[in-house]
Amino acid sequence: AAESVAEQGTLSFTELAHGLDKHLAVAQGYQAQVLVRWGDPLFSGAPEFDPSQQSAERQMQQFGYNNDFVGFVSLPLGSDNSDHGLLVVNHEYTRPSMMYPGSPERNQLDKDMALNDMMAHGLSVVEIEKRPDGQWQLILDSEYNRRITPQTEMQMTGPAAGNSRLITADSADGVRTLGTYGNCAGGVTPWGTILTGEENVDFFFGGDFKDSGEQENYQRFGMTEKHRGSWSRHFNRWDMSQTPAEPLHVGWIVEIDPFDPQSVPKKRTVLGRYKHEGANVFINTDGHVVAYSGDDEQFEYLYKFVSKNIYQPDNRMANLQLLDEGTLYCARFSDDGTMQWLPLIFGQGPLSEENGFSSQGDVLLDCRRAADLLGATPMDRPEDVEVNPVNGKVYVMLTNNSRRSEEQRDGPNPRAKNRAGQILELSPVDGDHSKEHFTWEMLLIAGPKDEQGTRYHPDISENGWLANPDNCTFDKLGNLWIATDGAEQYQMADGVWACEVEGERRALTKRFLRTPVGAELCGPFFTPDSENFFCAVQHPGDKSSFEQPSTRWPDFDPDMPPRPSVVVITKTGGGRVGS
Ligand code: FEO
Ligand code: CA
Ligand code: CA
Ligand code: CA
Repeated sequence: AAESVAEQGTLSFTELAHGLDKHLAVAQGYQAQVLVRWGDPLFSGAPEFDPSQQSAERQMQQFGYNNDFVGFVSLPLGSDNSDHGLLVVNHEYTRPSMMYPGSPERNQLDKDMALNDMMAHGLSVVEIEKRPDGQWQLILDSEYNRRITPQTEMQMTGPAAGNSRLITADSADGVRTLGTYGNCAGGVTPWGTILTGEENVDFFFGGDFKDSGEQENYQRFGMTEKHRGSWSRHFNRWDMSQTPAEPLHVGWIVEIDPFDPQSVPKKRTVLGRYKHEGANVFINTDGHVVAYSGDDEQFEYLYKFVSKNIYQPDNRMANLQLLDEGTLYCARFSDDGTMQWLPLIFGQGPLSEENGFSSQGDVLLDCRRAADLLGATPMDRPEDVEVNPVNGKVYVMLTNNSRRSEEQRDGPNPRAKNRAGQILELSPVDGDHSKEHFTWEMLLIAGPKDEQGTRYHPDISENGWLANPDNCTFDKLGNLWIATDGAEQYQMADGVWACEVEGERRALTKRFLRTPVGAELCGPFFTPDSENFFCAVQHPGDKSSFEQPSTRWPDFDPDMPPRPSVVVITKTGGGRVGS
C-alpha cells in the first residue's frame, strides 16, 4: 500500500470519464445508494409521495425540494461515529412546472399551490443509520426529525437584532422573525450545530418598495417590483408594498441546533447580511472561532468573522453564543500575493453617521455598502469557503463572472468574461486565522484544460479538468473534493472532482462522479472516517418539463418526475472514499 501511495498518491481511484446522460455515475469500485428523495416521508405515518396529490400539509411531513447543503453530525453528540447520525439538508428553491403534472410556472401558482411550494423550502433534519449490510436507512420514528420551513419561528440575535428597521407586523420588536428560504450551502460547527446560508432571497419578493426607505439596499440585493415567484402575490409578508421591512429579515446565516428539535433557530446578524453561500467555522489556535463566508454574486465580496469569546470544548451552552459577538471583516487582495482583512466596525473610518450608519446593526444590515466603502476586492462570485482541517489553509470556490471586463482583471480574478471559475488558497500568516494579513495563491483556474488561461497540474488527464467550482469539502487526509455547477456549458455533466493540495500532486484533479443531465452537485460531506460520502443531486432534468423530462432519475418510473435526492457513496467492500 505504501508503494502505491508513493506512485499514485492518496487518491488512487480509477478516474471516471467525462460524459452526459440520464444517470448518476461514480468511479469504478464505488456504489451510490439513493438515501432520501424529494417527497420521501420523514416521520412515521407521513404520507407517501404522489406528485398529483401534493399539498402543503403533506409536504411539511416530507423531504423538501432541491437539496443543496448536506451536513452529517454523529450521534451521540460529541462522538465521531460514522454509522449513525443526523443528516441536515437545505432545500434551496423549487421549480413547480417540473414537479407537478399540469403545474404553471412558479410565478403563476394559486394560493394553495403557493403554500405547498413554500413548504418544499427550508431544511430537513433526519436521523440516519448504517445497517450491518452496509445500506443506510432513515429512522422515521426518531425524535430528532424535523422540517424547518419559511414559517418556522426564529429569532434575530447579535448587533442588528431589535434594530428599528426590522419592525414588521410579525416582528413588533425586530427580534422575532419567521423562517428561512433560499438556503444554499452551510457548515457544521465544532459544537454540533448547523449554519445555513440565505442566498438568493430577492427572488421571493415582489411589489413596489419605493416607500420603504431601503431602495438602495434592496436594489443592490436584486429586489424588483415584479412578482418573480408566487408567495408575494398571495402573502403580504413577501409583498414589499405591504411589508416593506421584510427583506431585511433574510440574507443572514441561521444557526440551528439539530439535537434539540424544539430549539428556535437563530439568525446570527454579527455575520452580516448579504447573499450568503454558506459559512464554515474553524477554531483558531488561540481558541477564537473564525467563520468564513462568501457573498455569491458577481463582483461581491469575501468575509470572515472572528469571535470575541473563545471556544470551550466542555461548555456547549457557551459555544451556542459564540456567533453573537465579534468582528466581521471583508477581504482586500493585492496582486503581489498578499491580502488584508478589513474590519467592518461602526464609527471606524468611513462607517460613520456621515455615511448613513447609526449603529453596528446598520453596518451589518448594509454590509455590502459598508464593504464597498472599505475598498474590499470584487470577486468572481464567491461560493463555498472552507478551512482544510489538515493544513489549516482556506479554500475559496469562485464560480464564474461573465461581466468582468479586461480592465477589471486582477490577481485573484484573472480572466475577463470568466465562464469557468477558479479556486483560491488563502494562508494565514503563522497559521493564525485571527490576523488581518494573509497570503494567497491560485490553486487552479478551471475550464477546458487546453484553453488559454486555465491552470492545472501538468499531468491532468482528459477527464480531470472541471468547470464552475461551487461547493467543496475535505476528506480526513485533507484532500479537496470539489462539486460543480455549470459544467454542462461544455457538454459534460457536473459532478465531483478530487485533488491533493500539497506536494507533487497538488491540484491534480480527477473526476469521481457525474450527475444526471440537468443537475448540479451540492453538499458534499464525509462521515468522520471518510468512508461514506454524501452528495446532493440538485435539479435533475433542469431545463426540460414534467411531461417530457430529460431524465427520470432516480426512480425511472414513467409516473414520477425526476427527484432531487441525497445519495451516499461507499467503496465496494469498504474503505476510504478516494482510495
Ligand atoms: Fe445557491 Fe451560490 O449557489
Ligand atoms: Ca451553491
Ligand atoms: Ca461545503
Ligand atoms: Ca452555483
